[in-house]
Amino acid sequence: MTYLVTGGAGFIGSNFIHYILAKYGEGIRVVNIDALTYAGNLSNLKDVEGLKNYVFIKADICDEAKMKEIFDKYDPDYVVHFAAESHVDRSIKDPMAFIRTNVEGTGVLLNAAKRVWETKNGFKYGKRFLHVSTDEVYGSLPPDGDKYFTEGTPYDPHSPYSASKAGSDFLVKAYMDTYHFPANITNCSNNYGPYQFPEKLIPLMLNNALKGQRLPVYGDGKNIRDWLFVEDHAKAIDMVLREAEPFETYNIGGHNERENIYIVRLIIDTLREMLPAGDARKERLNYDLIQYVADRKGHDRRYAIDPSKIKKDLGWEPDTSFEDGIQKTVKWYLGHMEWMEQITSGDYMEYYEKMYGGI
Ligand code: NAD
Ligand code: TYD
Repeated sequence: MTYLVTGGAGFIGSNFIHYILAKYGEGIRVVNIDALTYAGNLSNLKDVEGLKNYVFIKADICDEAKMKEIFDKYDPDYVVHFAAESHVDRSIKDPMAFIRTNVEGTGVLLNAAKRVWETKNGFKYGKRFLHVSTDEVYGSLPPDGDKYFTEGTPYDPHSPYSASKAGSDFLVKAYMDTYHFPANITNCSNNYGPYQFPEKLIPLMLNNALKGQRLPVYGDGKNIRDWLFVEDHAKAIDMVLREAEPFETYNIGGHNERENIYIVRLIIDTLREMLPAGDARKERLNYDLIQYVADRKGHDRRYAIDPSKIKKDLGWEPDTSFEDGIQKTVKWYLGHMEWMEQITSGDYMEYYEKMYGGI
């Protein structure tokens, strides 16, 4: 089985590659295509780079000729498409990069797969394209109440990021409807865990807290996200690939809704618990570091997934509770401070200044 993974040097992609290589060992081959943007980092994959069943190719998914060459050479069984511009705040500042990679790049990959998989009598048996998407395509839910995103919820994206992901979902749907192209779409809630770039809420707060810097909370801090430990997402993706019928879409989430301010306080509490007595970082950690700042433009209030379809069809459920997941995540970052140093040493400071300058 050859898995062609796009965006495998990013947060979820690298966790997915670790997950499948640990699970299947030499029974599979993994081909990882990544352009290594600011979000892609080969040190996320240091421990697998020497394996003979792992190949890394630095390439842009929008490069049609290159994608054609790679699909011809490796003839993948599964395509797992993670590569994307993924951060909402960046999409508000520079939407075009999102439209290019997320929409055009997905179109290029669909064509590359269709070209090598299609025969006179339909598509070759067992081939599958899994498009990894987000619950943000559904828009925003009211803060209170019992409304959840189901697979039938109408799309209503608000940010350039979620609109570009919605566009890519519709392209995949069009290939399924028009050509009977064997694909699945998964829409997952917010992930957290090892190797997440510190532009997203949890690693950004961890990094700032450890440095004694301000913790910038947007608006009133009461926006709600539904959090899933990244390994549970990896498990769900692999189950969909191997066990789901083609053309099905699945929402993935673990009923873990929290307000942002709760998460920020929990990070402070967990760090205070884990850092040893006398550690200077522990002494300066307290809730006074929290600073409410101007709200994100078009900020979605609440996301919450109804995961009953994936549970019913495939028996998927998360293994990691939110409490355990946060403990594991904080412990991982504390044990990988050199990773954080490396990640934040380049263009990151410039980004941070642009986004949060002045606090
Ligand atoms: P990430 O930003 O950490 O990683 C994206 C990866 O894609 C990086 O390695 C980057 O170098 C690569 N990439 C970007 N543009 C590329 C291009 N043109 N060609 C080749 N590679 C390119 O993102 P992530 O958080 O790991 O998210 C992965 C996928 O999961 C995305 O499609 C995202 O929309 C989706 N998703 C993310 C979350 C979340 O909470 N992070 C939740 C649901 C869905
Ligand atoms: P983020 O991790 O960017 O994920 P998304 O916007 O895709 O859900 O943000 C999660 C929530 O945290 C979101 O409501 C915005 C908020 N947030 C802050 O309050 N401060 C920050 O510095 C960041 C990055 C996010």
